[in-house]
Amino acid sequence: MNPYSDFSFPWFDAFLLWLSGTELRAFFYRFEDFDWLFVFAHVASAAVLLGSILIVDLRIIGVTREISLRKLAVLALPWSVGGAIVALLSGAVMLLFDPIAVGVHTYFLPKMALILLGLLNALAFHRFINLEAAETPNAGARFAGALSIALWVGVFLCASLNGAERISSTSHAELSR
Ligand code: HEM
Repeated sequence: MNPYSDFSFPWFDAFLLWLSGTELRAFFYRFEDFDWLFVFAHVASAAVLLGSILIVDLRIIGVTREISLRKLAVLALPWSVGGAIVALLSGAVMLLFDPIAVGVHTYFLPKMALILLGLLNALAFHRFINLEAAETPNAGARFAGALSIALWVGVFLCASLNGAERISSTSHAELSR
């Protein structure tokens, strides 16, 4: 069902079709005139998440070691968590406004996969390495920090690719032949 490329999974297409007909979608459709507000909340919260997590990740991989990682994390991480919560909720509402139009973008599923990996990486860091141990950069912490930067930048790349994806005039011409 992907009009932009050959990338599509039948099970996900079926899910999007099902989601389009749910009561939940009908409920959120009433707020569609305010979609700009959700886009604003989404982009702003995503920016807060990326900015705040970048500061902590850069310190974890060894940049500006004179600043205490624990103090930096106390300031930045609540913003990362808040940003992630608002981005996930507003993103879900934006999907519900038009499940098929949003979900068929080529980089929608890759974006969801990278978000999941980013969240799992953050949980694994706090479970297995933790901030005290990472105060002095070590191999495990550096790896988790670099991976975190790569995953969240990847989420933004996928989001931008989705936002910029258009059906080209050439494919219109091919379809109408
Ligand atoms: C922490 C997680 C997320 C981050 C960091 C994030 C980031 C972004 C960014 C930066 C944009 C703007 C892209 C542009 O228009 O150039 C965007 C757009 C968008 N995001 Fe997210 N997002 C996240 C989660 C989600 C989720 C969970 C969903 C849906 C379930 C979602 C759905 C959308 C939609 C519908 C757009 C509008 C562009 C499009 O049609 O794809 N996002 N996101």
